Amino acid sequence: EHHLRLKDPMVVCVTGAAGQIAYSLLPMLGRGLALGTDQLIDLRLLEIPQAQGALEGVVMELQDCAYPLFYKISYGSDPAVLFKDADLIIFLGGFPRKAGMERKELIGKNCQIFKTQGEALNLVGKPTTKCLVVANPANTNCLALSTFASRIPKENFTALTRLDQNRAVWQIAARAKMNVAHISRVIIWGNHSSTQYPDVNHGQIATKVDETITSKPIREKIADNNWLNGKFIADVQQRGAAVIKARKLSSAMSAASAAIDHVRDWCLGTNGRWVSMGVVSDGAYGVPPGLVFSYPVVCENWTWTIIRDLTLDQFSQEKICATARELVEERRDALS
Ligand code: NAD
Ligand code: LMR
Repeated sequence: EHHLRLKDPMVVCVTGAAGQIAYSLLPMLGRGLALGTDQLIDLRLLEIPQAQGALEGVVMELQDCAYPLFYKISYGSDPAVLFKDADLIIFLGGFPRKAGMERKELIGKNCQIFKTQGEALNLVGKPTTKCLVVANPANTNCLALSTFASRIPKENFTALTRLDQNRAVWQIAARAKMNVAHISRVIIWGNHSSTQYPDVNHGQIATKVDETITSKPIREKIADNNWLNGKFIADVQQRGAAVIKARKLSSAMSAASAAIDHVRDWCLGTNGRWVSMGVVSDGAYGVPPGLVFSYPVVCENWTWTIIRDLTLDQFSQEKICATARELVEERRDALS
């Protein structure tokens, strides 16, 4: 009887499906945390030929999870088969960086994957296929993907910077001794790299006095400008590297959780909350058009809208310029 109330299946493809992020992400998808607990999923898992054995193991485990939302599970190594008529593709497939590397050093290895997969998507995708790129360098891979899948509208391509947002929000909440749920409007601008700009200038902290909830600017509640303009920013920028140093592996659980947050908000809407997503720039805030740049957005039913007309002080403008400059260089390197 439960099944009679479920929505018709959406085709969801996950690349790099035998990797570490996928291992955390697939159970969350199966439990309906991204697309809703009433959304059936026709699941397609893509891996390179050498990883098909490991992928078979993942498929066995997914079968053994017996998630009612997984209406069908298929897998393979041909993107032209698995991307066909996809509604959503989550791109995890690629190589992670090792300690001591910057993410852009992966351009040579990973961008080629996005050329091949972009060409496949161009042939078999739908005008409504939505894409989330997680594999690094995420913004520039996303740009390569959208360039080679030119038949699909640019607004369907997004890159993950939600992990950076979640990292920033946790740091602010811990410093203010508040729960993360009280923190809003923290923005990640630019590249998912060490030049990203975590910006608290528009951020708010909600406090409850008696029964009334009021919001205060983060900069009022945390008056330590040295920390907010210095260590806070650097720690968020370097958090991925810190996780690699500690785990000897790049973040996976938090990356999967952020990817689920991103898809859920894009699909089910943010209800006015601001979230950060890498999207193809139309020139907003002086960013060169065409770059995949992280902006504050609100979402509703698979559309995102950039929050415009925020006042930026000189410090913010310089940081936004620096991360845009890096993305211009990455674009040049990737497309050459
Ligand atoms: P992983 O090595 O555990 O898994 C990646 C998988 O991708 C591997 O199983 C590999 O076989 C597969 N793969 C490689 N080339 C492929 C191709 N052409 N098609 C399909 N699959 C392919 O790595 P991981 O820890 O899961 O990380 C995956 C990617 O996500 C890395 O690039 C990593 O740097 C990135 N990442 C991004 C964020 C973010 O916030 N944007 C966060 C964490 C990790
Ligand atoms: C992260 O931010 O944790 C990921 O992008 C992995 C990395 O290379 O830092």
